[in-house]
This record gives sequence, structure tokens and C-alpha cells, in this order.
Amino acid sequence: MILGIETSCDETAAALVTDSGEVRASVIASQAELHARYGGVVPEIASRRHLELVGPVAREALAAAGASLEDVDAIAVTQGPGLVGALLVGVSAAKALAWSRKLPLVPVDHLDGHIASLYLDATPIEPPFVCLLASGGHTQLRAVRGRGSSELLGTTLDDAAGEAFDKGARLLGLGYPGGASIDRLAQEGDPTAFAFPVAKLAGLDFSFSGLKTALLYAVKRLEEAELDARRADLAASYQHAIVTALSRRVADAARKTGLDRVAVVGGVAANSGLRESLPDAVFAPLAYCTDNAAMIASAARFVEPLPYPRYLDLDVYASRR
Ligand code: KG4
Ligand code: ZN
Repeated sequence: MILGIETSCDETAAALVTDSGEVRASVIASQAELHARYGGVVPEIASRRHLELVGPVAREALAAAGASLEDVDAIAVTQGPGLVGALLVGVSAAKALAWSRKLPLVPVDHLDGHIASLYLDATPIEPPFVCLLASGGHTQLRAVRGRGSSELLGTTLDDAAGEAFDKGARLLGLGYPGGASIDRLAQEGDPTAFAFPVAKLAGLDFSFSGLKTALLYAVKRLEEAELDARRADLAASYQHAIVTALSRRVADAARKTGLDRVAVVGGVAANSGLRESLPDAVFAPLAYCTDNAAMIASAARFVEPLPYPRYLDLDVYASRR
């Protein structure tokens, strides 16, 4: 059994996953409320909260699995990319836990973790496939050739898709984090009411910054009462533009690589518009779309573990090398 720990952003999470990918427990403590008043994640506050939560969350995961540290064979932890101070809390906790029982430690890349959310429980897809990874921090297309290996096909040149959702939500006065609230409000709106731009780029890259600016101007043009009346239409049209950009690129990637199967992972994979727009794609299970530790433990199965005590000087990284 692998104990996974994830603290790269504003979720403190721990999970127990077996070697065959069965999730025995997955505990997620979201800090979203703590950061909501600032309209986004405040790194210092996130680190401090991770420090308070990481021990209790790991204990809760063990209790939920009816297990103790004695039943654990390896500790997996997110090494990066993410907020350095937040990552350090998880990595320090993982080192301490592993060291106390002379267990191996498995450093996991957060993006590989998102992809490995596809290999949990009733595994929905096996490589090779094209993977759209759309989260608050990243938007990438990858060709996944094996469970532990993938190759970058395209990435966002500015904002991530989740970030575009969050910034849009803020402009619409919907609070943080915004993806789920735009998704909800969009169901009551007309996606064709406003024509928001979809960036046309060569290759397989994305760009969302122009879209955000277009929403800003659309909002500015409306009177307070008008804005209230049109908020759902704005949300639906804005979401439609993001979803169109993502699904077009997915089709381009499938064509270019000749890979006919597509999977979608990351927080934005929870979006109902995106799920509708890509009816043939395989989506990560809803419970494992946004940040969690089960996906980290899952990815650890395909990474070489560091034996005790070789990991004591392990460092974190802010962005993928
Ligand atoms: O994967 P994740 O939890 O964290 C990162 O690794 O960044 O993704 C969080 C992102 C946020 O930007 C959030 O607004 C977005 O996923 N998100 C959604 C939905 N649920 C979460 N975006 C669109 N529709 C949703 N239903
Ligand atoms: Zn993530």
C-alpha cells in the first residue's frame, strides 16, 4: 500500500492506494474558503495551513482505510510543480513519515499525478492516448505512450484554462474558485449570447489571455442591473469559448499524432460543458479531477522509489524541468 501526500496548492490531501490502483482512502482538506476573501491563493497562508493540516489529514486517511503506518510500503509525495512553500510542507512531512519507518519515498510530478488519476479503481483507459491536462496551473496536451511516460505536444502560452475560469468568475462577481460556479451558472445561460474570441495559434498551443480581456470589456459595457440580468449569458458564452478552444485543440492533437483515443484530466475536466463537447473522450473520475492525493499515490507506482535514507536531501521544484 502506498500513502500519497499532496500539498502543491491549496488542497491538503492524503490517500492510501494499493499496488493495483485500488483507492482505500482519499482525504482532501480544501483551503478554498481561507483564500476566497483574497480572490486567489495566498502562498504564505497556504503553507501555514498545510502545516496545520498535513498530520491530521494523513492520520484521517489511515483511519479511513483501517490501516496504520505499519501497513504502508512506500510514501509518495508531490515534488512539484506548485507553490514552493506549500510543496515543502508535504515533502518534509513525507520525509519524516518515511524516515520514521525506514520506508522508501517516491517523489511524484504533479502533472504525472493528474494523468495517473486515469489508472485508479475501474481504470477507464490504457495508453496510448492523447491527454488534455487542464487545471488551475496548467493546460497541456500530452501524448501518453505508457503509464509512466508522456510527451508534451502543446501548452498554454499565458493563462491556464482553470485560471481563465477563475479570472472570469472574479470579473462576474462569482468568487473563488470560479470554475464550478461558472459551470453552474452557465447551465441557465445562452452560450451564443456573446461572441467571445477563441485564439487561433499555429501548432498545438493555447492562449486564454485575450478571452479574459474580452470578458472584462463586455462586463464594463453593462450597467449594474443589466449585468445582473446577463450574468448567466456571459458565463455560458465565456465557458463556451474556453470549451471550444480546448476541444478544437484536442481534435488537432488526435489528428497530428494519429492517436484516436483522448482522455481529459485536471480540475477543468470536471466541467460539464467540456464533457458534453467531447462525448467520445474519457474523463478522469469526478472525485479525482481536482487536486487529490490518490492520483499522486497512483503515479508513484510508475516511478523509481528512493530507498531509505537517500531522500533526506530531496528538494521541491516550482515548475516542471
Ligand atoms: O487540478 P486542480 O485542482 O488544481 C491545479 O492543479 O491547478 O484545478 C483547479 C482548477 C481551478 O482553476 C478551478 O476553477 C477549475 O479547476 N475547476 C473547474 C471546475 N471545477 C474546478 N473549471 C471548470 N468547470 C468546473 N466544473
Ligand atoms: Zn492539479
